[in-house]
Amino acid sequence: KGLSNIINMRDFQSAAEELCTKVGWAYYASAADDEITKEENNTDYKKIRFRPRVLRSVKEVDASTKILGYDSTIPLWISPAAMAKLGHPDGEINMTKGAASTGIIQCISSFASCSIEEITSARTANQPLFFQLYVNSKRNLAKDVISKINRLGLNAILLTVDAPVGGKRERDIRVKGEFEAPKTKAFDKQGDTKGVSETLFSAVDPDLNWNDLKWLKEQTDLPIIIKGVQTVEDAVQAYKLGADGVILSNHGGRQLDTTSTGISTLIEIRKHAPFLLRPAHRIPTGPSKELIENPDKLVPSIPTTEKPLERKFSIFVDGGIWRGTDVVKALCLGADAVGVGRGFLFAQTVGGVQGVEHAVKIFQSEIESTMRLLGATKLDDLRPSMVDIVN
Ligand code: FNR
Repeated sequence: KGLSNIINMRDFQSAAEELCTKVGWAYYASAADDEITKEENNTDYKKIRFRPRVLRSVKEVDASTKILGYDSTIPLWISPAAMAKLGHPDGEINMTKGAASTGIIQCISSFASCSIEEITSARTANQPLFFQLYVNSKRNLAKDVISKINRLGLNAILLTVDAPVGGKRERDIRVKGEFEAPKTKAFDKQGDTKGVSETLFSAVDPDLNWNDLKWLKEQTDLPIIIKGVQTVEDAVQAYKLGADGVILSNHGGRQLDTTSTGISTLIEIRKHAPFLLRPAHRIPTGPSKELIENPDKLVPSIPTTEKPLERKFSIFVDGGIWRGTDVVKALCLGADAVGVGRGFLFAQTVGGVQGVEHAVKIFQSEIESTMRLLGATKLDDLRPSMVDIVN
């Protein structure tokens, strides 16, 4: 089957399921416990309705943006996901090349199956790459990784904080006897028959705490984004302690089951700490009084009393993003950009580099047509008044 039969991201999922080994599929598809959060990552987007504005002249549309100062053709990056080689022999390099040719950003997992050196030598000149960090319990090993990231010229660090231990992933446990650890750095101290996730997480430091953010800032000048924030309190804490942003994420439902979803945490921030958002997004969802009085306008004006934050703080969301409509909803509610994990693992499994490129094109075309149907021609037009949350 060629890529022409793949018309949406879920098509990649069903094609990947046919192609993957039992172990590979269990690792990619699995989530914690009853997989309730994995499911809610999808259903929470369905509780958000659009409020499109019509007759807005939407011939030209531009979905491009900057993420931490780097150009991106769409407001979406490749979330860091381990072990791409379980789906395709070229692994993460498929994403590096596909991200370069389509102009989006790849975030590399600490547990990537290609080495950082292999990935950075496959990148084009000036191609931005972000690195996801798990802090090893042996701090000298963690320091080595960070100095390598600095030396190789990566562009941001995403510190994953929702995984002091691995979640209980039962699909993985059921096939663990069949898993043979590949010969990569991440598996140095293993060799027995633990499942994929159990093997990986044995190197992560469960003692990591907020004081370590200060330690990490001493090791690098790169922007630091905290990945795996699930409450408004922790988002505020991340801002106060000097992080450059947060990723509202529950790790694709793979860690704590029945936790909040990225999009619901964004809604919680809107309610309890709107100062973290850009001023234009601190307004309520639903009908706007100002726009009822001035229906010729598209977006409400920013109240003059609203000041930007003292320093830039980015808010990203991931988990359950399968459609352009999901991306646009997150941006209306105030996210700077979103991440996609499984979608890109499946895309590279099915089509290697071309699979990744095809996935970006699918998202780009869905995002652009959603914007047109919503009456928006640039990302800056996307405001809370364009959505409403149904209970
Ligand atoms: C992940 N994720 C992840 N996150 C991280 O910080 N480090 C990692 O090594 C991994 N590895 C990983 C492997 C696999 C197979 C999956 C599916 C996910 C989580 C990932 O970055 C992201 O948060 C979720 O994948 C987003 O949810 P969706 O897009 O998969 O629904």
